[in-house]
Amino acid sequence: MSTEVRVGSLFNFPDGELTGVAVGRHRLIVEHKENEVHIARNRCPHLGFSLTRGPGGLRYQDGVVQCPWHNSRFDVSTGENLDWVTGFAGRQMPSWSRSLIGLGRRPRGLDTLSATVRDGDVYVIID
Ligand code: FES
Repeated sequence: MSTEVRVGSLFNFPDGELTGVAVGRHRLIVEHKENEVHIARNRCPHLGFSLTRGPGGLRYQDGVVQCPWHNSRFDVSTGENLDWVTGFAGRQMPSWSRSLIGLGRRPRGLDTLSATVRDGDVYVIID
């Protein structure tokens, strides 16, 4: 069953930034970009690690988040995978080693969620 949950005030999500939040037991990323808000689960589809905490630190620019673990990149608004397992902690690795780091996982996109802004508050639909 889907439930609409308040994530927080839009004021807490500065324009042009990506923020990690916990809503109950759900870990999410919230992107506020050019008057739009996008939300996805804070879970890299490669190994399920956090997209906002890890050895490479939070890396977000122009609507794209890079996983701090093995550098996979995702368009936050659509969830599309743009690059899959290219290294470790922001450093590039030789292409021959990428399949080892990939551990046989095939490229997948982010798990995006429906977000709305109403009366200055951000809401998300969670299954
Ligand atoms: S956990 Fe994100 S790319 Fe490996």
